[in-house]
Amino acid sequence: MSNSIINTPISSPIVHESAALHVTGQAVYVDDMPLPSNSVHIAIGLSHVSHGKLNSIFVDEALLAPGVVAVLSAADIPGQNDCSPVMGDDPIFAKNKVMYNGQAIFAVVADSRVAARSAVELVKVDITPLPAVITIEQAIKQRSFLENPMCLTAGKPEAEFDSSLIQIDGELVVGGQEHFYLEGQAAIAQPLENGGIKLSVSSQHPSEIQHKVAEMLGISYVDVEVEVRRMGGGFGGKESQSNLAACIAALAAQKTGFPARLVYDRDDDMRLTGKRHDAKLIYKAGFDADGRIKSLILDQYFRCGMSYDLSKAIAIRALTHADNAYYIPNSRLRAFLCKTHTVSNTAFRGFGGPQGMIGIERIMDQIATRLGRDPLEIRKVNYYPDYGSGNFQCTPYGQIVKDGILNTLTDQLIVSANYLDRRKEIDLYNKSSPIKRRGLGFVPVKFGISFNRTMLNQAGALVHVYTDGSVHLNHGGTEMGQGLHTKVIQIVADVFGLDVSRVRISNTTTGKVPNTSATAASSGTDLNGMAALRAAETIKLRMADYLAKLYQSCADDIDFSSGSVILPSGQSLSFSEAVNQCHMGRISLSSTGFYSTPEIHWDDNSLTGSPYYYFAYGVALSEVIVDTLTGESRVLRADILHDAGHSINPALDKGQVEGGFVQGVGWLTTEELMYDDRGALMTHAPSTYKIPACSDRPKELRVSLYDGEGNQSETIHRSKAVGEPPLMLGISAFSAISDAIRGCAKSAVFPKLDAPATAERILMTIQEHKTL
Ligand code: MTE
Ligand code: MOS
Repeated sequence: MSNSIINTPISSPIVHESAALHVTGQAVYVDDMPLPSNSVHIAIGLSHVSHGKLNSIFVDEALLAPGVVAVLSAADIPGQNDCSPVMGDDPIFAKNKVMYNGQAIFAVVADSRVAARSAVELVKVDITPLPAVITIEQAIKQRSFLENPMCLTAGKPEAEFDSSLIQIDGELVVGGQEHFYLEGQAAIAQPLENGGIKLSVSSQHPSEIQHKVAEMLGISYVDVEVEVRRMGGGFGGKESQSNLAACIAALAAQKTGFPARLVYDRDDDMRLTGKRHDAKLIYKAGFDADGRIKSLILDQYFRCGMSYDLSKAIAIRALTHADNAYYIPNSRLRAFLCKTHTVSNTAFRGFGGPQGMIGIERIMDQIATRLGRDPLEIRKVNYYPDYGSGNFQCTPYGQIVKDGILNTLTDQLIVSANYLDRRKEIDLYNKSSPIKRRGLGFVPVKFGISFNRTMLNQAGALVHVYTDGSVHLNHGGTEMGQGLHTKVIQIVADVFGLDVSRVRISNTTTGKVPNTSATAASSGTDLNGMAALRAAETIKLRMADYLAKLYQSCADDIDFSSGSVILPSGQSLSFSEAVNQCHMGRISLSSTGFYSTPEIHWDDNSLTGSPYYYFAYGVALSEVIVDTLTGESRVLRADILHDAGHSINPALDKGQVEGGFVQGVGWLTTEELMYDDRGALMTHAPSTYKIPACSDRPKELRVSLYDGEGNQSETIHRSKAVGEPPLMLGISAFSAISDAIRGCAKSAVFPKLDAPATAERILMTIQEHKTL
């Protein structure tokens, strides 16, 4: 894995491969793809009842409406009526019963989108409502769980809690989050000869769509091809949630024989698709006089919705991130999967990690208040040691933390963000400012990289070198804006010593790289980058071997750099000349590559193992201002130091840190999902659901990447995954708001603040708090 080539594209801040297309509007998304004039369009009929018996669907009137070609429902599905990722419990169309308000019951297929949408209103659905479980509270009361709680116990949590000098307890309710990808769910299905189907979708998981569509139609996987050029954002919301759109489009294409397009309307998208799990955390923790944690007893309740989706894996990530950055010698951590008559919640950037971490971060702030100490000091006392200390500690689930660097990161940020002076300055400000109050919040992140499910940690790639020296490349990962394709291009260009402009990645397709995992768990570059590297190196080796024979030299001494192939004699061929000579010599210029992450293992039953190949780290300091009369808050400044290892592309990585942080702040401040008593989502459009706007980002957002020392794992070019971890740095804004409110009380009490800390909730907390 040499980095020795001059002008290496590795570590360069190369612009995103689609940047120019994005900003000029030329990037093609599913809804932009031209279709033949005989194509049909689809609109979905959604349930308005949360739980009920589905008696009948009357379609006659709709079928007579202008432009309508067909109305499809469960009865039209030839194979399995299921689009679930794991458990087989997500019907494509409701059958016999409806399980959430927003569930798909039928679809109208028509010659235009408008015709399809209008005809949806003409279909009459008869449902007998049944009692529904909507909230986490109701689920707890009625013991409505998908399964028994998962329980992770380490040491002697009860005994150590009882004998601790200082004990705290509390509860925290954390809201869910809508992905709000700018491009909604979308799919095009084209019938092929012999009953096959080709799909163009906006999905993080083309292979799963291939499987689900084939099983729905009762055909083989080989008869379904799924391609993804790019997504206009996924954020986890297109890991499993794109299956439904793809299945319905495929069914329409198969039934009508015409190409079919389904693009969700935004309101439908928000009602139909799962979100981040909202959660309730109930905890108690025991400490010593220094604020060192002795024992943590924590119950996490997740609103899963009507089915599993990915909830189990998400809860496992929440359990394995309940420690975040801190060594906790004794713990009992339980995760309860609440089954409710609401949409089935799903993956969202962080995948349970955020809900896991916010609990312990809240506890750190609470113990600091109790002891009258600086919350940053309490955190540091509890950190896992840095790798350089030679001291290693174990997580509650049994993984040894071998690559700790948080002490170093924290010390650097304290200086660069001028923490101590600003703390004093803010205390002074608050003393003289009764209405507006400022607060500081510091939060570290330690995020495990790899899919918890070991089997998913594999990837493939396919590289072709053409005789003009240009390189075509495919891998199993999908591009959702994160820059994966750009990084993999850099990796392959580096192998051949080429400029990145010579390497092209086309659509991700099941036809080129089979049996792929979702692009998720932040491991897109780790897995696919490594597979592509291996494919490219195989070709390079073949070329070097052949050229060595041809020029009587040693293959090892042939150098590929700056667009040339340099022989030991000093003779230089252009890369295309070298390729041509190999082609004339009948050398294969195409290769696959495969990678599976080494070392990791996990036992789902005991909830122990070493599931993560390594940890990615980061630290953030947020400063907020709160108006105590209106409850409004703003993040004034955020300082972030994030660990992307030896970054392959610092520009893209910084972009991921900025975007992730702002999305995390949105989750905990303005983004609020509201359901009414009957389980109808009331916030199903940007008018009522508030994602951060450009103007909401901190005025000063100072992001730096750590220099990458301390990466103990043989990752691709020693880089680290960066997609999800920065989201959790947003917890620092929540901590800062709590800090600002804290001073409103007469005594040093810890504010009871739930998330998201909207203006309303902040105001209520302040009102309550002022009287204390
Ligand atoms: N960045 C952009 N711009 N758009 C996205 O949809 N998804 C995030 C993250 N960053 C996302 C993003 C999520 S949830 C994951 S898991 C990773 O990107 C996936 O890509 P990677 O594995 O290549 O980092
Ligand atoms: Mo990301 S939540 O793993 O798609």
